[in-house]
Amino acid sequence: MSEKSQFGTKLGVIAATVGSAIGLGNVWRFPAETQANGGAAFLLLYVACVFLLGIPVMLAEFSLGRGGRSDAIGVFKKLSPERPWWLVGALGVLASYLIICFYMVVAGWTLEYLVESISGGLYDAVDAGEESLRAAFTSKMSEYVGDDLRPIFFTYALIALNIGVLLGGVQKGIEKLSNVLMPVLFVILVALCCVTLTLPGAGEGVRFFLSPDFTKITPSVVVQALGQALFSLSIGMGILITYSSYYPSTTKLTRTSVIVALLSLLVAILVGLIIFPAVKSFGLDNEPLRGATLVFVTLPEVFARMPLPALWSTLFFVLLLVAALTSTVSIAEVSVAMLQDRFKMRRRKAVLTTMLPLFVFSALCSLSFGSLSSFTIFGYTIFDLLDMVTSDIILPISSIALCIYMGWFAPKGFLSGELSNKGELHSRWTRPVMFIIRYLAPILIAMILISNCI
Ligand code: PFF
Repeated sequence: MSEKSQFGTKLGVIAATVGSAIGLGNVWRFPAETQANGGAAFLLLYVACVFLLGIPVMLAEFSLGRGGRSDAIGVFKKLSPERPWWLVGALGVLASYLIICFYMVVAGWTLEYLVESISGGLYDAVDAGEESLRAAFTSKMSEYVGDDLRPIFFTYALIALNIGVLLGGVQKGIEKLSNVLMPVLFVILVALCCVTLTLPGAGEGVRFFLSPDFTKITPSVVVQALGQALFSLSIGMGILITYSSYYPSTTKLTRTSVIVALLSLLVAILVGLIIFPAVKSFGLDNEPLRGATLVFVTLPEVFARMPLPALWSTLFFVLLLVAALTSTVSIAEVSVAMLQDRFKMRRRKAVLTTMLPLFVFSALCSLSFGSLSSFTIFGYTIFDLLDMVTSDIILPISSIALCIYMGWFAPKGFLSGELSNKGELHSRWTRPVMFIIRYLAPILIAMILISNCI
């Protein structure tokens, strides 16, 4: 088999991993959860969960990937060939594939909204007059998302874009894309932040977001913060194992995990500093900021009330598209790497085998908002079912199993070997990380699983 691909530079390692971590989880899940769970208190808990739990579990995945130098299933086969631990990896691969089916649809919407922002179509509604802006954008959303053909067209465009990047390979496709797009993402975030922070009354939104009210912390808020931390770091999806199998042997895993976590946190905070001041300033904070509505109704309404709506809207949807594209590429790479390593496929064949079925599966998910909206399984549309089964059930199970494997069954000294680059670095973090992976993480993630199931 050909040499295992690697990222070419330190910056590429960080940009690709951060690109995966920063996704819709930061842009729409985080503000929605923050608003629903008491603002700043939730933010603090989220930060604590990222450091206490997210980074150690991330390090477990990094060690597996870099030490095993294989796909998410192959690493377990290499390290523990005599036991069926590879099933843990298989669960991650399954989760990643199910997620990509519906995430691609949402990524398609962001492209659709970008096109509509540039063409000005989205802002015809402004002519409808202030009072009816919300109604106008709500009906725009059902028009865009609920149509059968248009969203499928944009989803297909996103699948095609992903295929283009993935065919480019690890260095010339994924790494190059991330190196270019991540700086773009940060520049747009800062620009939008500067604009919303100067809106009249923005300070109150900032206060809600940044000054904590500890009475708001309840067990359920803790569980939500934990879930958000794991999702936003792309844990349990096989992504981190796959990407770290491309890390050079000199990559410092602990430092990389801290940088990735901090950058992902920074993005969540900047997004909060854009959204909360803006909704407060226009008095739109009395409604729940639910994921899709927040991004596709509330924010367009905010932009419509500002001068130059098409400009801000275009910038925002470029931001969302960048976040979605670098995340979909990372999640698709899990299957591509698996097909290459397990079935010895050439990259081109592996990319097409992964991506072509999405033209059917993602279309079915997209139709959940159109003709198939009344087709339900256990009361869920296809889209919602995939979302629920992956986020609420498979991801927590695969994360718990991963911790149990790394904590109790991986070869002795494996984690410390990876964290210290085979003894070259002094790694003082091995013990606390091991303690968290063995005891704390499985118990806390089990709490998420239980609370999701009841
Ligand atoms: N960390 C990513 C996010 O916050 O959106 C998680 C993710 C979801 C990555 C879906 C990739 C993906 F396709």
